[in-house]
Amino acid sequence: MKPLMFALPGNGELTARLATRLDAEIGELESRYFPDRETYVRLATEVRDRSVVLVCTLDRPDEKTLRLLFAADAARDLGAARVGLVAPYLGYMRQDKRFQSGEAVSSSSYAKMLSASLDWMVTIDPHLHRRSSMAEIYSITVTVCHASPKLSGWISQHVADPIIIGPDSESRQWVSAVASAVGAPFATLDKTRHGDRDVEIRLPNMERWRGRQPVLVDDIISSGRTMEAAITQLVALGFSRPIIIGVHGLFAEDAFERLQAAGALQIVTTTSVPHPSNQIDISDVLQSAVSDLTSAPTGKS
Ligand code: R5P
Repeated sequence: MKPLMFALPGNGELTARLATRLDAEIGELESRYFPDRETYVRLATEVRDRSVVLVCTLDRPDEKTLRLLFAADAARDLGAARVGLVAPYLGYMRQDKRFQSGEAVSSSSYAKMLSASLDWMVTIDPHLHRRSSMAEIYSITVTVCHASPKLSGWISQHVADPIIIGPDSESRQWVSAVASAVGAPFATLDKTRHGDRDVEIRLPNMERWRGRQPVLVDDIISSGRTMEAAITQLVALGFSRPIIIGVHGLFAEDAFERLQAAGALQIVTTTSVPHPSNQIDISDVLQSAVSDLTSAPTGKS
């Protein structure tokens, strides 16, 4: 039987693309708020014995998670053979440590919640900073896909003579992979975060690349302050206005407008989180991972 996919609200386009690629069926999911803002969910397509795939990118996760968990739980309760989640962006990965006493380590708490309701998950470039693998916090099968080949493809097609720049040392993994595929040099900047919206960036000596087009690449653009500080420094030093590429463009509050005002030449993101800046489709990156997981044996006799 074909996999049965349900799009959580806002995920219709990606679900349609994936369903076409996977030859899957799209089911009908109804969701709304009761007058008191509690959440109503209904799977209006029969799920019994089906391999169910919920599609829900998890930016702004507080608005989305309960609906997702209710849908997953309903699918199990109604006899689905397996219930998986495609979450191109996986929220709550950045609080991976107790920085101050008493803090919730929300990446672990969130992982426990999702793991309890799902059999598997596919995601793209989750923010693994202090953790070496998803298995440290998720107890279900998690397949991690990578967007870097798509980023390098876009750069090769659209940018002549780039210098690929990561805004902090954590981005080195990204930037080196992207730069080597493009055949361009790369550099990483030195970042100190003083607060949610307070980021300080220091540039290494980049004189030898002055004639190249700066391309700033990061996994997440959230408040945009990391990218904004990097743009400001580059422009102040007389480099060309940089192109900004983010895998997951969250653009909290006025982040997008701030990046434009800071001097970004172009702001480009993948389709991981729907936004007008989306130029890089990642449905093909997800396809083979989802295909493997939906064709895995169910373990039921
Ligand atoms: C952090 O380590 C990430 O790689 C990003 O650099 C960070 O999440 C960007 O956040 P913001 O846009 O809020 O500066």
